[in-house]
Amino acid sequence: HTNYYKIDPFDPDIAVLTETAAMLRQGQLVAFPTETVYGLGANGLNVQAVKAIFQAKGRPSDNPLILHIDAVDKIYTLAASVPANALALAERYWPGPLTMVVNRRPLVPDAVTGGLDTVAIRLPSSLVARELIRLAGVPVAAPSANTSGRPSPTTAQAVLADLDGKIAAVIDAGPCEIGVESTVVDCTTPVPTLLRPGGITYEMLVEVLGEVEIDPTLSGAQAIPKSPGMKYTHYAPLAPLFLVEAEPITATALLKRELNQALATGKTVGVIVSAELAGSLPPEAIAFVYGPRGDTAAIAANLYTALRSFDNKAVDVIYAEGISDQGLGLAVMNRLRKAAGYRIIRL
Ligand code: TXA
Ligand code: MG
Repeated sequence: HTNYYKIDPFDPDIAVLTETAAMLRQGQLVAFPTETVYGLGANGLNVQAVKAIFQAKGRPSDNPLILHIDAVDKIYTLAASVPANALALAERYWPGPLTMVVNRRPLVPDAVTGGLDTVAIRLPSSLVARELIRLAGVPVAAPSANTSGRPSPTTAQAVLADLDGKIAAVIDAGPCEIGVESTVVDCTTPVPTLLRPGGITYEMLVEVLGEVEIDPTLSGAQAIPKSPGMKYTHYAPLAPLFLVEAEPITATALLKRELNQALATGKTVGVIVSAELAGSLPPEAIAFVYGPRGDTAAIAANLYTALRSFDNKAVDVIYAEGISDQGLGLAVMNRLRKAAGYRIIRL
């Protein structure tokens, strides 16, 4: 049985947070909102609790977890050393959707890091998240609160769709503001390396660091990536997804052609598109409009709801309209490419 608590994101009930923080401290699993996606929290220093996260999600144990803290200086309790670049990033973007990989102290369990010498640390900006971590009094290990391989949850309802009955509690503070996971930056390399694009954009990182490496597996041109963290399916809806990548006019033509071909073979077809394109689609296609073209914040915020929206509609196939890689668009396209298993339609 999973306890459900509804709270106000800006004026949270302290009694609820105190109760759920105690559950966390005692080794139970609590799903909670952050500004990015809902996290599946556990006491990050309790090996049994951390192992329970992997169990509940069906997550491969070699995929390491992020430790969440409630104040910048807590990084020193977990990191063996904090490079100047990491400090500069923390000063500018914490609290916020940025995760930094640094060398770990011995007290960080192997279960958290997958046996690596490094640990990923994040200070979320969400008031509910920070209060919960503060009251728990321990670093909170938290992956996204979905079944492994499924789209991340941006609402408590999406958490329950995957994990109801498998976790002690879920705190519902409404939909997440950003809608895609935090940016992950490896700060142990001489030039920091972007491992996962997210709420803090590549451009924002460059502003502080001057120079940022991009992990080769992030390149859109890359076929199936081979690095360990990317060998698993991610963010996938139940039906196969195809991603159309092209300039708007070409994308419209490609998408219509694909939809008409699929419909002609008698398939039930879903499509994820911009407001601009929605009007010119064949009416038989089941459309989810992710927002106006160019409003990447809205598109990011709606992305995972869009991917989950077809789960109970019995579609045979889904097509998605890609967007530009600029700013938050890089994070959106990274998730769409993975959700599509790199089935990409180009000219
Ligand atoms: O926005 C977020 O980051 C959300 C919320 C809940 O905070 N959490 C999240 O966690 O997305 P998860 O587990 O779904 O993604 C963590 C990512 C994975 O890609 C993992 O491989 C990477 O961070 N990671 C964790 N520790 C690492 C390490 N020591 N070195 C390299 N990558 C690491
Ligand atoms: Mg995840």
